[in-house]
Amino acid sequence: MKITYHSHSCFQLEGNNHSLIIDPFLTDNPLSKITPAEIKVDAILVTHGHFDHVGDAVEISRRNKATIIAPFELANYFQDKGAESHPMHIGGAYAFPFGRVKLTIAHHGSTTESGAVGNPCGFVVTIDGKTIYHAGDTGLFMDMKLIGELNAIDVALLPIGDNFTMGISDALKAVEFLNPKMAIPMHYNTFDVIMQDPAHFVEGLQGSPTKGVVLEVGESLEL
Ligand code: NI
Ligand code: MN
Repeated sequence: MKITYHSHSCFQLEGNNHSLIIDPFLTDNPLSKITPAEIKVDAILVTHGHFDHVGDAVEISRRNKATIIAPFELANYFQDKGAESHPMHIGGAYAFPFGRVKLTIAHHGSTTESGAVGNPCGFVVTIDGKTIYHAGDTGLFMDMKLIGELNAIDVALLPIGDNFTMGISDALKAVEFLNPKMAIPMHYNTFDVIMQDPAHFVEGLQGSPTKGVVLEVGESLEL
């Protein structure tokens, strides 16, 4: 399984036969090095309605004939835009051809230009036997302990930008709760108010059983 960071909260997961992208904010993203036209995927996962997560989901869906997987109200919004979507909701899991997706809580908002679109979420995705937790935009919450207890997480993707989400110290506490093999920071340095040095996150994990890894924009990791 290959995981590629496209900056902000956007990651691409590629298994043996399938691939997917999470929160594909590319076109209006000052850090992204790739355009939606270059993305080849079978599915698109979107955590919530904010522009920096919805991003190019509709265009990527159309070009690839790929389903957008999102919380129910947001999935309806995508259907109204003419995209094919698969609605889910928090606590629910579904076995897709590419792997299993389960929605987790996230403490945040979820709006589009059309208004509120239900609750935000995080995703636990299992592809080719590897389990990835993408927290979405969220503050720290105690139930991360439960997510860690219920899932043997290989990689946790955690926001560290502060202001809109957890900052570094809360993200380090999240790692303690989740107990993943590896933690990768996200949602930082895209905008002025979320500037962070991700090296501080990695330093904070020294001596912990979890390995902290910073991915450069466009960088991939083989699991
Ligand atoms: Ni947001
Ligand atoms: Mn965001």
